[in-house]
Amino acid sequence: MRALVLAAGLGTRFISEKPKVMHSILGKPMLWYVLKAVKGLNPESIALVVGYKSEQIKNYFGDSYLYFHQSNPKGGTGDAVLSAIEFWRNYEGYMLVINGDSPLVRTNTIKGMLRYIHLVEEYESIKLSALLLSAQLPDPTGYGRVVKDQEGNVLKVVEEKDASSEEKLIKEVNGGVYLFYCPHLLEALFKVKPSQKTGEVYLTEVFRIMAQMGYTVRSFMAEDPTEILGANTRWELSIAENVIRLGILQGWAEKGNTLHQPESLWIEPEVELQGDVEVYPDAMLIGNTKIGKGVKIGKGSIVENSIVEDGAIIEAYSIVRNSHIKAGAIVGPFAHVREKSLIGKESHVGNFVEVKKSFLGERTKAKHLAYIGDAEIEEDVNVGAGVVFANFDGKRKHPSYVGKGAFIGSNSLIVAPVRIGSYSFVAGGSVITKDVPDGDLAISRPKLKILKDKGKKKLQDLR
Ligand code: UD1
Ligand code: MG
Repeated sequence: MRALVLAAGLGTRFISEKPKVMHSILGKPMLWYVLKAVKGLNPESIALVVGYKSEQIKNYFGDSYLYFHQSNPKGGTGDAVLSAIEFWRNYEGYMLVINGDSPLVRTNTIKGMLRYIHLVEEYESIKLSALLLSAQLPDPTGYGRVVKDQEGNVLKVVEEKDASSEEKLIKEVNGGVYLFYCPHLLEALFKVKPSQKTGEVYLTEVFRIMAQMGYTVRSFMAEDPTEILGANTRWELSIAENVIRLGILQGWAEKGNTLHQPESLWIEPEVELQGDVEVYPDAMLIGNTKIGKGVKIGKGSIVENSIVEDGAIIEAYSIVRNSHIKAGAIVGPFAHVREKSLIGKESHVGNFVEVKKSFLGERTKAKHLAYIGDAEIEEDVNVGAGVVFANFDGKRKHPSYVGKGAFIGSNSLIVAPVRIGSYSFVAGGSVITKDVPDGDLAISRPKLKILKDKGKKKLQDLR
């Protein structure tokens, strides 16, 4: 089998500078979902018909696909299939043609269609010229209606704009997913005339022509009618996103993860949960993220392109990006870990702490109000409240190093590049501009004066 994906349309109803099929659903273009469903079938080759802003599509999906260009942006779906004629003209088998704006179609449904073609061939001795995916919709408005004869063969598909008031009552609609026997498609498609109303060449007109030629066309009803939803407007895109989102959440729940208040959760399609994960309301798990066994993701937290190992806790309202949180570590609440940081086993990055491009060893703690940037901090270090690693001199970023077991007192300023030795002690409020050798104490503070009764007098003067 070969597969052809139609992705050249203007998407006028989207009112956008971006091709319709590149609009995103859970962080991926809607076309990504269509291609995922198609790839699941292992077709011998996959081609895309592109047109409007085709560079955006090619840049994103790269050259694992064949691309055909539709030169007339208003040519219609039939014209789109004709644009790729070199792909299927001499092909003797079935070709899947699928609309690029049908992101909910599942691989299994198309497999069902393929099985159906074989069954009809075997038990009815009929070679189907085309099989189209359809569904019964309570409100079929906007979709092509499937008109059948009494035996259940498709006579034609009428588009909404061309449908008579009687045809408009038909609830079975065309889902935009087809299997065509290529030799018959070739005969029929050239006979399609552009619509008098829109000037477009409708692919759906081939069914009428095939039926007239005595060929057999059938429809295959989707088990779940939502599957055929076409995203023609931004609102339909939102609805498709919700359907996909809930499907992903349900899948993870069935694999043994607890999702609190699922209507508020965002888990993208490439995220992995390893079991017994608990996700609290409003959390977002983005991109290529792996969440280990028993991890807790607190309310409102965002984890993007990161690994969170077994038993770690991301407390509420924390953000972890492009980083690695080792087993049993605690991040947050209100923490920000970013840019290739690594938080060691059982370490703790607490309230209002920002960690950037830094390494924290095992059991190291920075529990309150700190900035750790470009630092390598070994195990069992205590970073006090308000400690700042000043890594930027106005021009360049510099690294810092803190050896194991060191203690950095509250409100200290670590001016990089600098090295703080193992088991050394930095007294609170110090400004560290020189290396501190192992085991030493560093203190830099103006001398404290206590002046007898001066406080009371000062207050009186003020009143
Ligand atoms: C189409 C079907 C309709 C079906 C519905 C299902 C036709 C004429 N109608 O309508 O029967 O119920 O899908 O969702 O096919 N495209 C191109 N080139 C073009 C026009 C469109 O590549 O010139 C692509 C679009 O990018 C899109 C797909 O084809 O991905 C479908 O086009 P669209 O305009 O959305 O068709 P619908 O009006 O939804
Ligand atoms: Mg559409």
